[in-house]
Amino acid sequence: MTKIQAAITCVGGYVPEDVLSNLDLEKIVDTNDEWITTRTGIKERRILKGEGLGTSDMAAKAVQQIFDKTGIDPMEIEMLICATTTPDFTFPATANVITDKLGMKNAFGYDINAACSGFLYSLTTAAQFIETGKFKKVIVVGGDKMSSILNFEDRATCIIFGDGCGAVLLEPNTEGFGVVDSILRSDGAGRAHLHQKAGGSVRPASIETVMAKEHFVYQEGQTVFKFAVKNMADVAYDIMQRNNLTNEDVNWLVPHQANKRIIDATRDRMGVSEDKVMINIQKFGNTTNGTLPLCLWEWENKLKKGDNLILAAFGGGFTWGSTYIKWAYDSK
Ligand code: UT7
Repeated sequence: MTKIQAAITCVGGYVPEDVLSNLDLEKIVDTNDEWITTRTGIKERRILKGEGLGTSDMAAKAVQQIFDKTGIDPMEIEMLICATTTPDFTFPATANVITDKLGMKNAFGYDINAACSGFLYSLTTAAQFIETGKFKKVIVVGGDKMSSILNFEDRATCIIFGDGCGAVLLEPNTEGFGVVDSILRSDGAGRAHLHQKAGGSVRPASIETVMAKEHFVYQEGQTVFKFAVKNMADVAYDIMQRNNLTNEDVNWLVPHQANKRIIDATRDRMGVSEDKVMINIQKFGNTTNGTLPLCLWEWENKLKKGDNLILAAFGGGFTWGSTYIKWAYDSK
């Protein structure tokens, strides 16, 4: 029987218009452009402004781009997975909101929350549905409105994150292109170092939690950094080994954009040259579930059929992982 793989056949993306630069942040918290640039690689990030706008609004724009580019009718989509850590609501799932907003009445969907590794978890999950042969058109959209959970009085976190979403269309491929392999890992012991303290069932929202600013990102930066550097680099290297890929075989490293120094460590471990690494952290910062699809979106025109892509991420949870994709199409 011919093996069915899940191939990405189109990419969409959306970042809000409003730019928050390092110089803007200098006016809000005790920081400076030089510190942010050298420690993280970030120069500016996008912020979603506007009353009543959430992650689904950005996600819907990213998914709409797929419909515009391919001419596919929203009714043809069978399933949508939304990777997000900043859902519109605790329930229903943001996926439901997106499918409703775009008239995808035949699609079922759900959210996956694996923090910064959410896009890889979702892509891997969606690929399984395609590989069964039962599903022909599945969308994975990843992104976050991180500004909704940022404390703009905390210079250690508010400088890192930004808002944005990217989306991919998955279709069956029987010629060897698509998602080839994934390694996904998690370690819940890491939750102490990166989490949102309140708003869940353990500590529901109250006047006290709001006053204590517990609805924002809490991060012990250095600890997270140490785990991220090691685990993201290791897992990217492991997937190369498992698939007999040398550094020459890898055409592109698509890394989670949390910190340029983490990206460099991953690239070093893999032994790939700088020109093969997708980096847009300087423009968008860390959009959490949005970083990987936003890279694919920006680089789509440079990708060639048969290119070997290694995607890698590390995030809260802790979660981390790597996915090997054999790219399925030349840009038009
Ligand atoms: O995507 C999800 C996973 N998250 C990550 O991968 C993030 C991993 N962590 C990081 O990227 C880095 O730890 C940060 C960028 C968050 C922080 O960089 P760092 O090099 O680890 O800095 P640090 O926390 O060790 O702080 C060094 C110094 C401290 O001052 P003292 O104690 O040495 O006087 C901080 O108070 O830098 C200070 N500092 C700042 N200074 C200017 C912290 N934030 C800032 C700031 N501007 N924004």
